[in-house]
Amino acid sequence: MRAAGLDAAGLKQLWLQRRLSWNALDESGVWRFREILPALNDWKHVITLREGNTPVYELPSCGRFAGVERLFAKHQGMNPTGSFKDTGMTAAASFARQGGFRWVACASTGNTSASMAAYAARGGMRSLVLIPQGQITWGKLSQALDYGAVTCQLKTDFDGCMRVLDEVVQRMPVYLLNSVNPYRLEGQKTAAVELLERFDWQPPDHIIVPGGNLGNSSAIGKALREMKELGLITKMPKLSVIQAEGANALVRTMREAGGKRLISVHAETMATAIKIGSPASWKKAVNVIEATGGAVEQVSEVEMALAKAEIGADGIGCEPASAVTLAGLKKLVRQGFVKKNESVVLILTGNLLKDPDFTLKFHRGDLFAGTEHEEEAAAVLTPRQHAPMVLDANANAVVRVLEYAEQTDPGR
Ligand code: F0G
Repeated sequence: MRAAGLDAAGLKQLWLQRRLSWNALDESGVWRFREILPALNDWKHVITLREGNTPVYELPSCGRFAGVERLFAKHQGMNPTGSFKDTGMTAAASFARQGGFRWVACASTGNTSASMAAYAARGGMRSLVLIPQGQITWGKLSQALDYGAVTCQLKTDFDGCMRVLDEVVQRMPVYLLNSVNPYRLEGQKTAAVELLERFDWQPPDHIIVPGGNLGNSSAIGKALREMKELGLITKMPKLSVIQAEGANALVRTMREAGGKRLISVHAETMATAIKIGSPASWKKAVNVIEATGGAVEQVSEVEMALAKAEIGADGIGCEPASAVTLAGLKKLVRQGFVKKNESVVLILTGNLLKDPDFTLKFHRGDLFAGTEHEEEAAAVLTPRQHAPMVLDANANAVVRVLEYAEQTDPGR
């Protein structure tokens, strides 16, 4: 198969060449791959913040933690608004602008709203954000405000916000930018293309993503399928999806209903980004997992918190929802699904700075205080905690702390 008249070799060469260009479209890690994206009538409609082009890091010590020799993270939290949403948003917002929409809207657990608000602002459109009151992080909320969104905190959860938005969209001329928007999935595809390019088109054995509304797994699955059809890759990596135990609709759907019908749950997790009970794209995610031979797994809150600290200790960091990937990988290795010598890429979806509250509570030892996990958390997490210290303003006090740290904490 060909795209825009080019075969696989031609596409690879063209995309690589564009990395030397200062053209705004070429600088974007999404539009650099425009031959495999839906075409706009005119490229002038593109709204870009130079998204994509995110780094792939080796994670040797997280690899030891999980039990694999070759572990990498593609850090989508290094996008302009700090999450993977930007790659899809540049595409969908551009189509909204081309369509002449004045308003765009989404329901969100925080990252979509931050991203949508930014792209709408850049594109001269207004944005309406519906978020569950008290259930998104300050970092994400403050982004939406700064980018000028009309922000409504609804007294419900994410699933309730989606229901309200569906009705609003029927009644008002607003363009829906949730992940069911087909252009968002198209833009998000490029994360996988970029990853494969980085590996010189030699696929890793496994790609692991967190699962919430399941747009991301669907998009990556679509990318893998299309890359194979275009001859860009010859084999598909296995795509596995990890959820929080308290928001495990996909896990239950696969295990209890064989992937045939959605089992919704009442979602409860500290990873607010993936606190979703009725994932919209569950069918697509089931198809991708089955087509690539991937797995679904769930992890506890404590497992997630520990994994997040491990990623932080590698100098990378991510938000809690992203850390389920490492916690899930550890389980999949233990189960023998992922082999020690296989290569694995974790997709880290959000930046550490998205949820500083979680991180501070973790290090102060407050995260699980008063919960049923308190004892388990104290046993498992304490060695990874680095609480800030309040000292008198003199060098002796600081030197004593330094000496104590050297004696008691071997570091890595
Ligand atoms: N990780 C982060 C940091 C997220 O913000 C989300 C979803 C996911 C993972 C899950 O991705 O929905 O494609 O399966 N956040 C959405 C939002 C729901 O509104 O920001 P998914």
